[in-house]
Amino acid sequence: MKNSNFFRQANICLKKDLYFDKKINHKILDTLGFFVIKNAFSLKIVEKYRLKFLKEISNNKLKKTNNHLVEFKIEKFNFFKKIYKEPKLKQIVKSFYEGNVGSDFYRIVKKDKNNIKPVFCHQDAGYQLGSFDRYSLFISLTTNNNLNGGLIVYPSTHKFGYLGDTGEISKKITKRFTKVCPHLEPGDILVMHSSLWHESDVNFLKSDRIYFEVHIQNSYEPSTKFIICGKKLKLQKDLFDKNKIFSNSRIQRIVSLKNQIKQIKKSISSR
Ligand SMILES: [Fe+2]
Repeated sequence: MKNSNFFRQANICLKKDLYFDKKINHKILDTLGFFVIKNAFSLKIVEKYRLKFLKEISNNKLKKTNNHLVEFKIEKFNFFKKIYKEPKLKQIVKSFYEGNVGSDFYRIVKKDKNNIKPVFCHQDAGYQLGSFDRYSLFISLTTNNNLNGGLIVYPSTHKFGYLGDTGEISKKITKRFTKVCPHLEPGDILVMHSSLWHESDVNFLKSDRIYFEVHIQNSYEPSTKFIICGKKLKLQKDLFDKNKIFSNSRIQRIVSLKNQIKQIKKSISSR
């Protein structure tokens, strides 16, 4: 696989470390499916969000999402919405979608001394709603690297597109591909295509590993909830609830089967 055309191009980019720069390079982003913008945010801005986040956790107002390895939902705090107004963010994203850039969600993903587990290899596209022309901006709020469970990406795998299901990509497949864990300092941003395969390792250092994730898409997409820059569109709020689209889906069937198993186990144990 590594010898196919787009992997040959990817290897050139990787060998020359072309995926790190102060300004985004869309050609490299398109080739690799990721790009690192160095020093995108000042330490002052990074600290503003990091300290507020840690404060809300210590006040017990914010908790990791149940049944999720690393996610903290922060949308209930207006404070974090300020990220969309950051001039630096606007400046970075305006080179996408001819300057009409929206977002459908933002969140924080964190590992620490109490939560050191790895995250299995997956692509995000299958968990999201809308077109496949979308990216996550992972803003590093701490030093994130291969020692504390930093994001690991599989260059150019976004070229395979949506894989037809969600979940863990087999190690029998992933072992055939090159992987990279970019070393990020606070204020650096890892831009990642939503179809790119990615994972993360154990947090060996047991230090805080925090990313503020802002997901971007063309602002014309109906699922856009926030406009970052470009035309002032009237957002179609609550067009449909993501969880109510299907009357019969794979997830609904799994939940229903799990409930049936629970009931059967209960009735057996009460005999
Ligand atoms: Fe992911």
